[in-house]
Amino acid sequence: MEVGVRIVGVILRLINFLLHPLFWLASARGPKLRVPPPKPLHLRSAADLARAVRDGEMTSQELVTAFIERVKEVNPILNAVVGERYASALAEAKEVDRQIEEARRNGKSQEIFQKKPLLGVPFTVKESCSLAGMSNSVGCLENAGSRATTDGAAVRLVKEAGAIPLLVSNTPELCLGWETTNLLNGTTNNPYCISHTPGGSSGGEGALLACGASVFSVASDIAGSIRLPAAFCGVFGHKPTPGIIPIEGHIPTLNDENYPKFLTVGPMTRKAEDLPLLLNIMAGENRSKFRLDEPVDINKLKVLYMTEATDAMPLLPVHGGIKQAVRAAARYLGECGAAVSQEKFEELENSVELSISVFFSMKDIPNMLQDPTNPKRQRSLLVELLKHIVGGATRSLQALGFTLIDKTNLFIPQHRRSHYCERADKLKEHITRTLGTDGVFLYPVFTGPAHRHHEVFSRASGVLYTMLFNVLGLPATAVPVGLCGDLPLAIQVIAGPNQDRLCIAVAKQLEIGFGGWRHPRH
Ligand SMILES: *[C@@H]1O[C@H](CO)[C@@H](O)[C@H](O)[C@H]1NC(C)=O
Ligand SMILES: *[C@@H]1O[C@H](CO)[C@@H](O)[C@H](O)[C@H]1NC(C)=O
Repeated sequence: MEVGVRIVGVILRLINFLLHPLFWLASARGPKLRVPPPKPLHLRSAADLARAVRDGEMTSQELVTAFIERVKEVNPILNAVVGERYASALAEAKEVDRQIEEARRNGKSQEIFQKKPLLGVPFTVKESCSLAGMSNSVGCLENAGSRATTDGAAVRLVKEAGAIPLLVSNTPELCLGWETTNLLNGTTNNPYCISHTPGGSSGGEGALLACGASVFSVASDIAGSIRLPAAFCGVFGHKPTPGIIPIEGHIPTLNDENYPKFLTVGPMTRKAEDLPLLLNIMAGENRSKFRLDEPVDINKLKVLYMTEATDAMPLLPVHGGIKQAVRAAARYLGECGAAVSQEKFEELENSVELSISVFFSMKDIPNMLQDPTNPKRQRSLLVELLKHIVGGATRSLQALGFTLIDKTNLFIPQHRRSHYCERADKLKEHITRTLGTDGVFLYPVFTGPAHRHHEVFSRASGVLYTMLFNVLGLPATAVPVGLCGDLPLAIQVIAGPNQDRLCIAVAKQLEIGFGGWRHPRH
């Protein structure tokens, strides 16, 4: 491990050790609100609710109303909503009901549902994915009040499938962070325990989904932003193979040619069966690349697993419950007939160096120290940090931290960068070859279950578990596998490029074996 990375790691662990009791104390003294119980309707999958509308079990207006009411009930506790369009959604639902009625009269209802498999089903959107007419300031003070003029490409495809958007939800500033908090719309709470973060950057979506306030989410992942909140909130989240689901309209979008390899738009859901449904819709004309219609035989699957990237002291160790969950998942898949291999990917011990070197080689990463009124002027990092103590801060701490990593490159010497970039390419080749077209790799999503608000700084090394797979361009799913106390536990299922269907098949199997998403205790 690079000396600089080692030193930063040790300092962070020390801070974590010293501050943990304070965080614990602060959360012990905080309010103990719980989300109210859901109705049975709020527990159903998107596929099931789409069927209910199709079969006339309920109208789209009834369905949309039920989810709007649920959001209104839980949002005062969560602070997940940035902007809503309830009146428009209800008007659209009314029009959908009229169309369905007309199609039924003309014997064309099969046709209309074939074209629009999500007709009349409500959904929610991470603010950064752009929903026309809604806020797209993405937690950035200087963009306060700005609105999307068009839909993000994936949002448009979901709308074309007949689904009705209800709202846009909270993220960290410009998605630069792993906790959902910003200076514009505040901090989002985890519904399992409100003193904890839902993770980020799709934390608003994670929080809403987890308590049945959304049917499904359109979210995005550049360094864990779908998988981390899915894991912290006990729902499913899939980061697809890049280059299949269109990412146009995402904020931020970098001009670097590698950006579309790292940033992916994808679904978060309460039920595994909704993942393939949404991937097919969000991929538009590219859907055949996912090959989701090809059946996967768990009996013929090869399963590799690791419970930790490394046991090197500078990095936070993985929580015992998560290690156990990875082993239990491997064992269970073995019992289902898969061949569990003992092979490990040793190179993962260099995850920090590989991720940082490749990721921060991108050009035009947002510079949070640039003065927005005068792009030639640089602000001082120290002054910006001090403003968080004395008041008047204009940049979130997480965004400043991100810029700090960008500026220092974690003290990895410049000349070593290309070395690590080459090693990342080799690792991708190695994993791709090893997993082939029938292998998956089970791994933690993060070092622990959801941590308390603002603990992200001392726990940042945990993101090596997700970020590397953006850098490598491999598909990965966060799968809930139980609870640890009140908080959800999850594991990550990774496959070779374009083998998303293997991740999904394993997610479905683990849902059967471990029970999948559970509503928070109330
Ligand atoms: C979030 O901030 C925006 C400012 O762009 C504001 O319009 C919106 O009302 C805020 N949302 C909430 C729920 O406070
Ligand atoms: C298909 O994928 C390409 C990138 O590989 C993307 O540019 C394009 O927008 C996608 N097309 C559709 C219809 O989603």
